[in-house]
Amino acid sequence: MNIAIFASGNGSNFQALVDDELIKPHVKLLVCDKPNAYVIERANKEHIPVFLFEAKNYPDKEAFETEILLELRGLEIDLLVLAGYMRLIGPTVLAEFPEQIVNLHPSLLPAFKGKDAIGQAIRANVLETGVTAHFVDAGMDTGPIIDQVKVAVNEADTVDTLAEKIHQKEHVFYPKVIRGLIQNGGND
Ligand code: GAR
Repeated sequence: MNIAIFASGNGSNFQALVDDELIKPHVKLLVCDKPNAYVIERANKEHIPVFLFEAKNYPDKEAFETEILLELRGLEIDLLVLAGYMRLIGPTVLAEFPEQIVNLHPSLLPAFKGKDAIGQAIRANVLETGVTAHFVDAGMDTGPIIDQVKVAVNEADTVDTLAEKIHQKEHVFYPKVIRGLIQNGGND
């Protein structure tokens, strides 16, 4: 199974995925939409090719997703793993990868969809939140859920302390989910 990881920022989840010995050999590409994202340095260190694009250089999403598709086809990618990719996947890519795109979201979906899920949880004064892995459909954080893990919220938690706890959970949880998909999908 050939995997492309999509990320826009720091890439701590990208790192957790490629630090997993079972997952690493399957990771053939990083797709990134931000030229200054630290995840690009991480990919370079790991000798993983990077496809970098900037949305502003294309007339619309269909145009840049068409280029992404060419890259994915060239590397015979089977699974797209979103790890902090801060864009909605559009119909151009979705049509070619039905139930083959996985997203990581920092809440117990369906709670706190969309941006700033951690801030939303703090402002809602919930006692627990968590992390969800789900297949991507045309909606925002709406596709079929694969697995979830809970994270307790203390009264003293701020967005920063909760984000730290959530990241720590994600770095164990997401590789476990992706290992499961690789094992179910065969190892070729
Ligand atoms: C992660 O917490 C992930 O759950 C979140 O972005 C962060 C990326 O961190 N994703 C979303 O909010 C998607 N809507 P990282 O760059 O350190 O992996």
